Amino acid sequence: MMSRSVSQTVLVHLVIFIYLTDSLLASSSGAGEPKVRCKEAEKQAWLNIKEELHDKYSLLSSWGKEEEKRECCEWIGVGCDNNSGHVTKLDLSFPTNFGRDHDDWPLEGNISSSLVDLHLLNYLDVSNIYFYGNSIPSFIGTLSRLRYLNLSSTSLVGEIPSKLAKLSTLQFLYLTYNWHLNIKKLKWILRLSSFQLLDLSFTNMSLANDWVFVVNNLPHLLTNLLLRDCNLPDMVPKSSLSLVNSSTVLVVLDLSLNHLSASIFQLLFNYNRSLVVYLDLSYNNFKGPIPKAFKNMAVLTYLHLSASHFQG
Ligand SMILES: *[C@@H]1O[C@H](CO)[C@@H](O)[C@H](O)[C@H]1NC(C)=O
Ligand SMILES: *[C@@H]1O[C@H](CO)[C@@H](O)[C@H](O)[C@H]1NC(C)=O
Ligand SMILES: *[C@@H]1O[C@H](CO)[C@@H](O)[C@H](O)[C@H]1NC(C)=O
Ligand SMILES: *[C@@H]1O[C@H](CO)[C@@H](O)[C@H](O)[C@H]1NC(C)=O
Ligand SMILES: *[C@@H]1O[C@H](CO)[C@@H](O)[C@H](O)[C@H]1NC(C)=O
Ligand SMILES: *[C@@H]1O[C@H](CO)[C@@H](O)[C@H](O)[C@H]1NC(C)=O
Repeated sequence: MMSRSVSQTVLVHLVIFIYLTDSLLASSSGAGEPKVRCKEAEKQAWLNIKEELHDKYSLLSSWGKEEEKRECCEWIGVGCDNNSGHVTKLDLSFPTNFGRDHDDWPLEGNISSSLVDLHLLNYLDVSNIYFYGNSIPSFIGTLSRLRYLNLSSTSLVGEIPSKLAKLSTLQFLYLTYNWHLNIKKLKWILRLSSFQLLDLSFTNMSLANDWVFVVNNLPHLLTNLLLRDCNLPDMVPKSSLSLVNSSTVLVVLDLSLNHLSASIFQLLFNYNRSLVVYLDLSYNNFKGPIPKAFKNMAVLTYLHLSASHFQG
């Protein structure tokens, strides 16, 4: 009798145990609630990134350690691959007029080196974050999957790290509105064979003497090159220019606001490819008549020459 009731009790406990275990497992993986996709290590990297940002408007309030925030794939600005759960996208560009004042930055702080733990990141937009006087960290060069990088309006200073040229899959790069970013050399872009768009407008390229050479030898996929108000040095070294033969078309070339003189036409008319669909040369320093050769640029559909000081 005694032993039977003990074994009955054990059985009952066992059944209860199995039932509890089952329902625990169910709640964490199956039915009801969806499975957490995001990776624990990557979540920690995000939290480190947040830690180095001052977030006075609580824009990143969805980012946290709390139980209800455990699915980091649902945090604002974060995008995960649906299958693997790895983070592939970070978009933290909030409008600058977010606050009341004109010069109010939505987020400010430092670029965390924890970014390197997000190996599969292919899209990174941290534009409009005020990174004090940070320079572009060279560890950006380890984000080898990047296809899109937007560092516009971030108050970055210093020079472009040469490691940026390691981003062999990079297609779109925006570094605009960083007045104190010194771009002394442009040749590194020739190594970025996937490049489609490069916007360096409103940076400081006053020492980039190789820019003409680079424009003359652009990577084949590059269709948009924007160098507006970059303080480009006005010089066209005659000897290094050869006729550019390419079957690709440069769709947009913006050289406006650069105080360039007429010697630049030597570069432009050197393209056999009648290349440019949109050419903006406004606000430069051309003297003399408008060159007739423009009419040979067969594909040109938009030519902006206002305030360029042409005569005749
Ligand atoms: C960014 O780094 C600077 C210099 O190390 C430090 O003074 C500042 O507090 C940091 N900002 C944040 C938000 O961590
Ligand atoms: C991932 O899943 C979300 C939600 O189901 C869906 O909106 C999105 O389009 C998916 N993304 C891809 C790349 O399949
Ligand atoms: C890059 O960021 C700037 C500033 O937020 C924005 O104006 C621009 O549209 C962004 N570029 C793209 C292609 O989204
Ligand atoms: C641009 O760079 C040149 C050369 O380093 C420097 O003299 C000039 O002050 C810089 N301009 C700005 C706006 O930083
Ligand atoms: C383009 O073709 C012309 C004429 O065939 C040739 O003289 C020139 O060297 C070529 N330029 C390049 C960059 O290959
Ligand atoms: C430019 O030169 C290349 C190579 O010689 C040729 O294939 C292409 O058709 C030329 N383009 C134009 C617009 O003449």
